Amino acid sequence: MNYKINSFVLYKIFFVDFCCVKIKYIIPEIEILEEIHSTNDHLMSLLKNEKCEEGKVIMTLNQTDGKGQRGNTWHSEPNKNLQFSILLKPEIPVQKTFYLNIISSLAVHKTLTDLKISAKIKWPNDILVNQYKISGILVENSIQKNVIHQSVIGIGLNVNQTHFPAKIKASSILLEISKEIELLDILKQIISYLDFYYDFLKQSNYAFLLKKYYENLFGYQEIKKYKSNEIEFEGEIIGITDEGKLKIKPKTGLIQTFDIKEVEFLF
Ligand code: BTN
Repeated sequence: MNYKINSFVLYKIFFVDFCCVKIKYIIPEIEILEEIHSTNDHLMSLLKNEKCEEGKVIMTLNQTDGKGQRGNTWHSEPNKNLQFSILLKPEIPVQKTFYLNIISSLAVHKTLTDLKISAKIKWPNDILVNQYKISGILVENSIQKNVIHQSVIGIGLNVNQTHFPAKIKASSILLEISKEIELLDILKQIISYLDFYYDFLKQSNYAFLLKKYYENLFGYQEIKKYKSNEIEFEGEIIGITDEGKLKIKPKTGLIQTFDIKEVEFLF
C-alpha cells in the first residue's frame, strides 16, 4: 500500500476492507501525521478542544517525544515502526479499568501470532518475544463518577527497525521473521482485533478476556524470579486482582500483590 504525507499533517487513509470482519467501534479513517511529539498527547489535546468521536485513530511516522509507562520515554526510528493512539469511550466501571490494558495487549499479541511470532504479554501490557520487547502500550483514562468515559490507548510496535540501543532488549517484526512489513497492514490487523476484543468488554464478558490474557501471560503458573524491595524471590504468577495488580505466590510464604513499580521481573 502506498501512502504519502505532506509537511504537517497528514494523509487520511480509509480502510475499505477489514479482512472480512465488521468493525463496530473504530473509525476506519486513520489520520497519519508526519511528525508529532506524542500521539497520545496529541489526541488528548484534540479531546480538550474539539469533539472527537469514539474510534478515532491517529498515527505518526515520527514520534519525537513518545511517552511510556511510569514516566518513561518511548523511542522509535522514524518511518520504521507503528506509533498510534486510539480513542475509546468505554463507559465501564472504574473497577474494570485494567480490561482496557487487557484488550489492547491481546490485539497486539494476536496480530503477532498471525505472523507466526510467538509472543507473550508481560504484565501489565508489554509484548515480549523471547524476553525482548517488541511492543509497549500506554493507556490513559479519564474518569468521572467512577466511570471511564474516555480512554486513549497508545500503541508502539517495532515493525521494520533492525538496530536498537545496546542497553535496550528490543526486537521487531523484521528481526523476528526476516521480512519487511507494510505498516498500514499491521495497523489494520491490530485495529480489527482491538475492535473484536473491545466488543467483549462492552458486553461485560470479562471472563473471556481474562482467560485469553492468562493464556498469553508471561510467567503465568510458572516459577520465575522476581525482585521486590531489593529482595529476590522465586514464585509463580497466579493471576491479577480486579484493580490489575499482579498476584504472585512465592515458593515460600504467602501470596503477594504488586503494583507496577513494586516488582521487577528477573526472567
Ligand atoms: C511502554 O512500554 O512504556 C509504553 C509505550 C507506549 C508507546 C506508545 S507509541 C504511541 C503512543 N504515544 C505515546 O506517546 N506513547 C504511546
